[in-house]
Amino acid sequence: MTTERKVLAGASGPVVPAGPGAGTAPLDRSALMHTYAEPSVTFVRGRGSTLYDSAGKEYLDFLSGLAVTSLGHSHPVVAAAIADQAHTLAHVSNLFGNVVGPEVAATLDRLIGGGVERAGGQVFFANSGAEANECAIKLARRWAGPGRYAVVSTWDAFHGRTLASLAATGQIEKQQPFLPLPEGFDHVPFDDLEAMDSACDPARVAAVLVEPIMGEAGVVVPSSDYLVGLRQLCSERNILLMVDEVQTGLGRTGRWFGFQHLGVEPDVVTMAKALGNGMPVGACWARAEVAAAFVPGDHGSTFGGQPLAMSAAKATLAVMESEDVPARAGAAGARLQAGLEAMPGVASVRGEGLLLAAVLTDEFAVPACREALEAGLVINAPRPDVLRFAPSLLVTGAEIDEALATLGPLLARLGPGGARAARNQVADHGERPR
Ligand SMILES: Cc1ncc(COP(=O)(O)O)c(C=O)c1O
Repeated sequence: MTTERKVLAGASGPVVPAGPGAGTAPLDRSALMHTYAEPSVTFVRGRGSTLYDSAGKEYLDFLSGLAVTSLGHSHPVVAAAIADQAHTLAHVSNLFGNVVGPEVAATLDRLIGGGVERAGGQVFFANSGAEANECAIKLARRWAGPGRYAVVSTWDAFHGRTLASLAATGQIEKQQPFLPLPEGFDHVPFDDLEAMDSACDPARVAAVLVEPIMGEAGVVVPSSDYLVGLRQLCSERNILLMVDEVQTGLGRTGRWFGFQHLGVEPDVVTMAKALGNGMPVGACWARAEVAAAFVPGDHGSTFGGQPLAMSAAKATLAVMESEDVPARAGAAGARLQAGLEAMPGVASVRGEGLLLAAVLTDEFAVPACREALEAGLVINAPRPDVLRFAPSLLVTGAEIDEALATLGPLLARLGPGGARAARNQVADHGERPR
């Protein structure tokens, strides 16, 4: 299908001139390492929920660069803050102070407390989700002291690709080529309190690390008593409860953080993706008593907390608060969920707020993704039978309706038979979901 989506009033803004890389000539990618599947589309600019490819075709973005551009593309407040800071002072290293980082840390501490009062914790700034988790893992080892170094996480969880965060990631196929991984990482089934109970020997376990909703595993939501049970278990055994909010954090699930749906208080919270609305920023928050385990020299990052990244984060958080993105995600998510549930081939919809997955019958998510992209809708399939939706938290009702109007007929047309044929075609072309 070659239908191009129409420009939505308010979503696309003024016509933006074609950016660098625009045009249809094939790009020479031979100097790039082959760590990613060959992309079928190259985007050159974006505005709000709209992306434009190198041929000028426009797309409705319901993936947000994997839950990163939560305020949409090129948000004017964030863009202006980055430009202003770039013209003022981009970087000084952590040998010196800067005026933006402490303010962002205080805002995050307040949002972790629910948004009104400071929670009383402290923040380390990194540049990605994996690095935020790396910080959490090192902090847990430092806090627990010699001999107590193990981290228990869950099968299918995703915590990053650095060696330690990969060791915490519960996906053997991602670990296998890189063995041996660092020692001290155990895994138990997700949403299984008994298994966690058996794994948590306080003589060797320093921390439990879990996602409140497993995003890369296909948006898997645990039972409502899971985090509460983990909190109780960890408190009884003096083990840290560390929550990976890299994908769920900062409004995406309808609360500032996923753990806030259940009223638990974690010891450590990691985040990244949405924090800079596209500027690479990661953060690891910890309760003050836990954070105090780190002393100068224990951990660091050349770029972490630099003025440029912090200005993006400060502006992002300010817009998030003024727009009340958790409330918007809750309302918009309900609309998207209701629409998806009514679609042909959708067995169930899971997730919270604007982190949703449609579980399809007969494994036709991968071909559906490809067809959706051709029709101008960007989504992805974290699992062969799961379509993931993570649009901008400022997405409009009209944009949600447009996405549903694109997807519904496409799923109806694909149907189980068409899906099988299209899936084989995808396999023939060697394309795989992330
Ligand atoms: C829950 C979770 N943790 C950690 C990461 C790793 O983040 P990054 O790719 O920024 O290192 C991801 C990325 O998808 C994630 O979803």
